[in-house]
Amino acid sequence: MNALAATNRNFRLASRLLGLDSKLEKSLLIPFREIKVECTIPKDDGTLATYVGFRIQHDNARGPMKGGIRYHPEVEPDEVNALAQLMTWKTAVADIPYGGAKGGIGCNPRDLSKSELERLTRVFTQKIHDLIGIHTDVPAPDMGTNAQTMAWILDEYSKFHGHSPAVVTGKPIDLGGSLGREAATGRGVVYATEALLAEYGKSIKGMTFGIQGFGNVGSWASRLIHEKGGKVIAVSDITGALKNPNGIDIPELLKHKEATGSLKSFNGGDSMDPNELLVHECDVLIPCALGGVLNRLGSIAEHLGPINYCAVCCMLPYFDFI
Ligand SMILES: NC(=O)c1ccc[n+]([C@@H]2O[C@H](COP(=O)([O-])OP(=O)(O)OC[C@H]3O[C@@H](n4cnc5c(N)ncnc54)[C@H](O)[C@@H]3O)[C@@H](O)[C@H]2O)c1
Repeated sequence: MNALAATNRNFRLASRLLGLDSKLEKSLLIPFREIKVECTIPKDDGTLATYVGFRIQHDNARGPMKGGIRYHPEVEPDEVNALAQLMTWKTAVADIPYGGAKGGIGCNPRDLSKSELERLTRVFTQKIHDLIGIHTDVPAPDMGTNAQTMAWILDEYSKFHGHSPAVVTGKPIDLGGSLGREAATGRGVVYATEALLAEYGKSIKGMTFGIQGFGNVGSWASRLIHEKGGKVIAVSDITGALKNPNGIDIPELLKHKEATGSLKSFNGGDSMDPNELLVHECDVLIPCALGGVLNRLGSIAEHLGPINYCAVCCMLPYFDFI
């Protein structure tokens, strides 16, 4: 089941439980607006490259639409649609006066230079600038994007609409960004983990953790767990994975990643197959990379045998096994 089919099915189940009118249910399943744009840029070597960008605006009944922009080779309309819909439900459940949207460009940001990423972001912004804005739709960072990406969007958007720092969240502090934003999602994962463990009379201290993804969310979650006395015994990212049954020294790993851009060759742990991360024995598994990695109740029960808890935050919301 793909992301959209799973999200639609889960919404229909919730809708029936809430007794929603079937016409309202149908209207809530169809996005407000779907935008698909061609983004052609000159590469550094002078050749042209074309990418497809999406922005799906799901619902604005509760306020301006809100959601991240992802740069990843697997970005495709159904997944963006699913994530936009989930933003609507998340802002509603948290009672924040926003709607839901999501966007992305099908590209591998690791294959693009910084100036190519800047050109791509600016072209994408030129194509969608009249459909986003503080009263309409406010983008944010997501996988493969960061504060720098938001700064480029802000700057390009401002050329058309005047200085508009509020058009994006997750921008650099110097451009009006919020203190704590960079850590916020990873911190949220840790709060969710603490709440989950508290239900079982446990706390982070002394527990062992496996963390998939060591980007913004995964690295902040790892750092905060480490500070709280938890043992991160396995981590992975796109460059590899490592394990250490005594707990990985996260501040040292962060320095290594900063210096080399990779988890590889870190001497504070043994390398392991990244595919094993999700089944590596630990107390708590925290997936912080792509969605859809937990995909069947059968496989969860079978694969997560050695794992006691799975703290899943907003990044992996579409299960197909409910
Ligand atoms: N950044 C935010 O504020 C935010 C907010 C809400 C949700 N999310 C969600 O959190 C997740 C992570 O986002 P992020 O901002 O940390 O992205 P990021 O680009 O900063 O980091 C993603 C990490 O995942 C790793 N990764 C990618 N594919 C992998 C694979 N197959 N196996 C192991 N690791 C892999 C990457 O190497 C990288 O370390 C995404 O699903 C995103 O939608 C992020």
